[in-house]
Amino acid sequence: DGEVYKYYSEGEWKISLSGKSVEIINPTTRKTQYKVQACTQEEVNKVLESAKIAQKNWAKIPLWKRAELLHKVDVILKENKHPIAECLVKEVAKPAKDAVTEVVRSGDLVSYCAEEGVRVLAEGSFLTSDSFPGNERSKFCMVSKIPLGVVLAIPPFNYPVNLAVSKIAPALIAGNALVLKPPTQGAVAALHMVHCFHMAGFPKGLISCITGKGSEIGDFLTMHPAVNCISFTGGDTGIEISKKAGMIPLQMELGGKDVCIVLEDADLDLVATNIIKGGFSYSGQRCTAVKVVLVMESVASDLVEKVNAMVAKLTVGRPEDDCDITPVVSETSSNYIEELVMDAKQKGVTMCQEFKREGNLIWPLLLDNVRADMRIAWEEPFGPVLPVIRIKSVEEGIEHCNGSNYGLQGCVFTRDINKAMLISDAMETGTVQINSAPARGPDHFPFQGLRDSGIGSQGITNTINMMTKNKSTVLNLP
Ligand code: G3P
Repeated sequence: DGEVYKYYSEGEWKISLSGKSVEIINPTTRKTQYKVQACTQEEVNKVLESAKIAQKNWAKIPLWKRAELLHKVDVILKENKHPIAECLVKEVAKPAKDAVTEVVRSGDLVSYCAEEGVRVLAEGSFLTSDSFPGNERSKFCMVSKIPLGVVLAIPPFNYPVNLAVSKIAPALIAGNALVLKPPTQGAVAALHMVHCFHMAGFPKGLISCITGKGSEIGDFLTMHPAVNCISFTGGDTGIEISKKAGMIPLQMELGGKDVCIVLEDADLDLVATNIIKGGFSYSGQRCTAVKVVLVMESVASDLVEKVNAMVAKLTVGRPEDDCDITPVVSETSSNYIEELVMDAKQKGVTMCQEFKREGNLIWPLLLDNVRADMRIAWEEPFGPVLPVIRIKSVEEGIEHCNGSNYGLQGCVFTRDINKAMLISDAMETGTVQINSAPARGPDHFPFQGLRDSGIGSQGITNTINMMTKNKSTVLNLP
């Protein structure tokens, strides 16, 4: 109906003075679903100015009161799970049930964060000078954790709500102000989520949500001198941001090519179930999705047969109908996935199913006998297409894992726990899962990537700590 969703600044919902909007295309219908404000640089300045002021007061609010407000958000988010989930269905084609799960998981995360915050932020340390050579017991050092200032949060389209609150809640409990730049696909879900913070009654300007074109406000935001920390999840844009950002702490998660190493003694039914869950849930659009299977030759045919039988049972269609496989986020993304499949096909890959695509909807596809010269062996399709490489030795699998530009997670399947530990030790990734598919959650676990997969470590506790700085006060005794 032409309505343009307002952005959130200084505790109010506003229309941008640009008079322009950004269209959000529904991946399923490929028609405009929503419109959001195309904010200007001037409006970014305003948001950051008020964030700076609000933060100073917020840092003085007792920790238990900050926690209380966050607990309120949890309740409000859950009360509003259906309207928020509906946006996720329309904007990013997330299957209906998963969309609701994302909102509930986000509420839980906010509450956990409040509880964790009151514990870890209350603790500091106390040191005496006499342990360092030449010193008497004449200096007492008290160390506490102080907020960084204004945190800029940039989450991706695949979890516009959950990966936003995983940045917002730690920032706020630690005494920071927060500016959210949501992804265009997912912006309306994010605005609804921010409304829950508004309803909880946070002070004006402490949290804001600015929408718009990356080309106009992207660099302006990330290079802005008023931003004291950036927490980003997404694609290669993160590499650009890290090059341009100032001397501020960065937390980044930029994708993965998670391997699944399968040994001869593995429980193949368990592996197949995890490959389906890990490789195809949300149509493979997760950084932690299984993105390449490295299976020992002797069990490869059995495993491929089991996986194929399960692929045949996956439902394909609309997110409203809660299908397993739903349209991928955009036409650009579908074209890229198709390009990777065609490259492999041309180089002689075994197509376990026929390649089928209607608009942005791509049918699940397993590619067997993938070789290292095929792009799909290394690139991240972010779609329901999974390559299988048959390996002759475990070393070959580890080499493939460590040869990737990415190093997010990986998994290994075997009944021999000693072998699993040795392989885990040799895999250069942020996390190794033994006998289960990669996953970020539970959300208090540390979550980090090596190489191009990221900077720093996430998870609730790590993020709270990352969004603070140590402050020392030294008492010099006479
Ligand atoms: O793709 C984003 C990444 O954080 C994945 O999260 O929960 O699907 O493992 P999860």
